[in-house]
Amino acid sequence: MRVVVFGSYVTDLMGRAGHLPTPGETVMGSLFQMGPGGKGFNQGVAAHKSGADMVMVTKIGRDAFADVPIQTMRDLGMDTSHILYSDTKETGAALIAVDENTSENQILVVPGASGDITKADTDKVAGLIEDADFLLTQLETNLDSVVSVIDMAFERNVKVILNTAPIQEIDDALLGKVYIVTPNEVEAEYLTGVKVTDLDTAIEAANVLKSKGVEQVVITLGSKGVFISNDEFEEIIPAFKVDAVDTTGAGDAFNGGFVTALSEGKNIKEAAVFGNAVAALSVQKMGTTVSMPGRGEVEGFLESVGG
Ligand code: ATP
Ligand code: RIB
Repeated sequence: MRVVVFGSYVTDLMGRAGHLPTPGETVMGSLFQMGPGGKGFNQGVAAHKSGADMVMVTKIGRDAFADVPIQTMRDLGMDTSHILYSDTKETGAALIAVDENTSENQILVVPGASGDITKADTDKVAGLIEDADFLLTQLETNLDSVVSVIDMAFERNVKVILNTAPIQEIDDALLGKVYIVTPNEVEAEYLTGVKVTDLDTAIEAANVLKSKGVEQVVITLGSKGVFISNDEFEEIIPAFKVDAVDTTGAGDAFNGGFVTALSEGKNIKEAAVFGNAVAALSVQKMGTTVSMPGRGEVEGFLESVGG
């Protein structure tokens, strides 16, 4: 089944240091890495590398940073024909600081061209979205573009997976068009008012989301794993125990892997296990897009843990 991933591309400028800077503080770092990123692009690459038949839609500028995603996509054999270009806005960038001891991060993202996706842009990809089976999108592009592509998908019965990162205020009407929503704990609390700390509170939060019209709920819980809720399942699928060196983009790895598995006809529980495996592999490497594992790695990992 065909997946369209619609979302942001930004170039990640990542620095690691012994601790994260407090406001006004300058910290000497130990490592700098520049690479492709952005939640949309990370999820697209995770889906592609883990085996999905997918097409990436994002928007970049006409500057030097724009070469990074294009070269990355060519190297990975991805279709670049639905990349949108801005003549006025620069390619987005994210400044990422990672604590090398705890692997905690701080991110300042400037979406640039990805924050300026127009109606004319979404019209260009309408046919592509309407012919897909799944649309995976996030909240890192301008909200009206997300609303527009979700509307297109919903009207044609394309299943929408909405990863609510980074959180923005969204209407219940939009949630009503979503097949599966995938917030993390913080986003789930923002959307429902329920602080998610355990199974009971996850169920409570999921019920609030369902009352807003979402069909199925998946709440990522970091190293604890992921909570899934639909008519068939209501449980926490534990994360794989690994030594994490950089959890930036873990949510993206999960979402990319999750949609790959769904597109292969797996149920939400099987897809959550597959997403957990993609994410567990990604957190063991530094960087975001570049840490996404290939299909062989994921299968080898699942075999090694008896999954
Ligand atoms: P980010 O914003 O950093 O991309 P997130 O907050 O969206 O992350 P999390 O809930 O932190 O997403 O993590 C997503 C998934 O990644 C988890 O559900 C789990 O499968 C996996 N994961 C995260 N941290 C770890 C870890 N330390 N070990 C193993 N798996 C992890
Ligand atoms: O989810 C991680 C991503 O968020 C990074 O790649 C960075 O670009 C930020 O947007």
